[in-house]
This record gives sequence, structure tokens and C-alpha cells, in this order.
Amino acid sequence: MLTQYSLKMPKQVFGGENSLDRLAECLQGVKKAAVFTDAGIEGAGLLEPVLSRMKNADIPYDILKDLPPEPTYSQAQALVDAFKSSGCDYIIAVGGGSVMDTAKLASLCATDEYGIRELLDEPLKARKTIKTLMIPTTAGTGAEATPNAIVAVPEKELKVGIVNPEMIADTVILDPEMIKKLPRKIAASTGVDALCHAIECFTGNKANPFSDIFALEALDLILNNIEKACDDPEAIQEKINMQLGSFYAGIAITASGTTAVHALSYPLGGKYHIAHGVSNAILLMPVMRFNESACREKFAAAYDRCIRPKKHLDTEGKSNAVLEKMDGIVKHLNIPTSLAEFGVPKEDLEGLVKAGMEVQRLLTNNMREVTAEDARKIYQEVL
Ligand SMILES: NC(=O)c1ccc[n+]([C@@H]2O[C@H](COP(=O)([O-])OP(=O)(O)OC[C@H]3O[C@@H](n4cnc5c(N)ncnc54)[C@H](O)[C@@H]3O)[C@@H](O)[C@H]2O)c1
Ligand SMILES: [Zn+2]
Repeated sequence: MLTQYSLKMPKQVFGGENSLDRLAECLQGVKKAAVFTDAGIEGAGLLEPVLSRMKNADIPYDILKDLPPEPTYSQAQALVDAFKSSGCDYIIAVGGGSVMDTAKLASLCATDEYGIRELLDEPLKARKTIKTLMIPTTAGTGAEATPNAIVAVPEKELKVGIVNPEMIADTVILDPEMIKKLPRKIAASTGVDALCHAIECFTGNKANPFSDIFALEALDLILNNIEKACDDPEAIQEKINMQLGSFYAGIAITASGTTAVHALSYPLGGKYHIAHGVSNAILLMPVMRFNESACREKFAAAYDRCIRPKKHLDTEGKSNAVLEKMDGIVKHLNIPTSLAEFGVPKEDLEGLVKAGMEVQRLLTNNMREVTAEDARKIYQEVL
């Protein structure tokens, strides 16, 4: 555990029913706002509640929506370029992690000094020059709370995280309306992503008292709500709890960091374009089983805090019960657990190991050291 720690959070967060009504006060003094989004969000009717409030407040806007899910850095740059020629002085992101990350990058790249390509090598040099407001529509990446933006880098066949505290949003609106109709498949994979954030941050080397508070509350909310939130369209309170849980897990990332699940999942997104939440779900249990001996006390603490009703168990029993709970969730949500379903051939094993081992930024957070041989065994389990 870290002995020194810090926490940076968005300056203002609005949550709860109709919190979108606070939009007008967030936009005071704004001349023209850029609304970053994508076609899926527009198709789901989620732009309308935002735009109608902007019209009521007489705030001019441009919509920037030409963004695929999990963009490459060039695709994200194209949207940033469109933003730069729009003359907007404020950024609103309405979407999942793909949209929020691109909007966050735009806030650093509004001057001509840096493009996203440069930030891959020198993430900390750029400064935010445009304020950002995040309205997440998945629950989720927690990108509304983190200093990270993840882009695919095709030449490396990897996804790469750009981390700069300046990217932490100025304002966040967590309105349940935005996630109430999330399709089950997206709710399941993005929900497991949030679960991974919570458990990885709690069991990582960078865990600390600040991150533990948020990681454990996130874990409690996610473990006890994810199944119903995904299964039952009417389970509004469970969906709200997932929205809160994914936001708290995002704060835990800012204070701590993810570990081997995310590290080994980056090549799966980068090379095979498997959705981020799905690739994490595939790796969650193999990595957690690998970590169990090193993280037993932490898993047992998670049991004490998050599992109800409790049984009389020793430390190992509690640890295994937490692993079983997570395993049950991944199975219940019918997320694929094998790479075979994505056409990944067994011959690609060595390439995966090489690419995964490059993600040392996250692997060094893992409490149990991950060698290339360990990574090979973990990938073999899911091939
Ligand atoms: N910045 C961070 O801290 C962080 C953390 C984790 C993941 N990420 C990144 O975020 C990206 C993934 O984001 P995501 O999982 O939120 O998915 P996403 O943003 O890629 O969206 C996936 C699809 O779901 C659709 N969608 C989103 N919300 C919807 C809704 N309410 N109703 C209907 N359709 C909806 C989108 O249109 C899109 O087609 C990846 O690039 C990942 O690497 C970033
Ligand atoms: Zn993630």
C-alpha cells in the first residue's frame, strides 16, 4: 500500500433524478458549446434531453458525432480537429468512455501545440485550455472521473492510456435518465468494466486509504446491483446504484490504478477490437485466481465489507467467496469467456504475451508479480 497518496476530483458533480436540469447553470458565460457524442447515443435519443435544455438556455452549440466506439488516436484526432475549427469555447461529452475520452483529449489539444500522437509520448506536457462537462451514458468506464484517455494505437496493436490530471472533468452530471435504457449487452460489459476497476484498485500496489473508500463502496454497489440492473428494465434503483458505483470506481482509478486485468486486456482491444468491457470480463477470473494467494487478505476484507448475508468463514474462505461471486456475475451476464469466440487463433499466443507485457504502467501495480510465463498461462486459459 502507498504511504503517500493524493486525490483529485471533478470540481462539481450533480447526481440524481433530473440532475440534467443543472445544465444551464453550468453553461453560464459560455459562448458556444461543442457537444461530443456518437451515432449510438443519438440513435438512442439521448442527445435530445441535453440539446433541449441548451436551446432553453439560449446556448449555441455544434454537435461532433463522427466517432466510432474505441477510436484509434487518428480517429479521435479527426474529431478534435473538427472541434478546433468550430470556434467553441466549452466541451460537453454525452456518451460512454469513447466519447468522454475523446472530449477530454480535445480539452488538451485545442491549441496547435499538441496532437494526440504527441500526447502518447509526452502525456504530461499539455495543459487544458477548454473546460469540460461529462454526461456519461454507460455505467461504466468512470471516465467522467479519471485523468485517463484510452486510444487504440494500430501500429502497436495495443490500446494506450494517456494520463494527465488536467483531463479530470470540471463538471459531471450523473442523470439516471441517461442510463435507464442501456441495452443489456452494453450494460453487462460496461458494468463488468466498472467491477474490474473497483477490485483492481482495491487489490493493487497503489491502493491507499483514499482509493479504498471509493473502491469498496463501488464494489459493494456493483456486486449487489449489477445482475438486476442488467436483467430488469424496470430496476431503476439498481441502475442508479451502478451509475454511482462506476463513478466511484473511476475516482478509485484516479487515486490508485488498475492492474493485470486491464494490462493484459489492452492487446485484445488493440489487435482484435474486442470491446473494453468484454476483454476485461474474459480476463477477470483468470487474473483474480492468479492473484488470490497474494491478495487473500484484501479479498477477505472485500467480503467483510460487501458480501451479504455472511457465513462463518476463515480468510481463505472469504477470499474464495468473493472470487465465486465475481465468477457468478460474469457467467450470469452471458459475457463470452473465451477468445475463440472472437476468432483469435492459438498461434497468436506469443504476440499477445509480448504486447501484454509492454503494459508495465499497469502490470507494476499488480500485487503478485506477472512474468511473461505467467501472462502466457493466463492467455492460454482464455484462448
Ligand atoms: N478514461 C478512462 O478512465 C477509461 C476507463 C475505462 C475504459 N475506457 C475506455 O472507454 C472506452 C469504452 O467506453 P464504454 O465501455 O463506455 O463504451 P463506448 O463509449 O465505446 O460505447 C459503446 C457503444 O454503446 C453505445 N452506447 C453508449 N451508451 C448508450 C446508451 N445509454 N444507450 C444505447 N447505446 C449506448 C455507444 O453509442 C457505442 O456504440 C474504451 O475505449 C475504453 O478503453 C476509458
Ligand atoms: Zn476499464
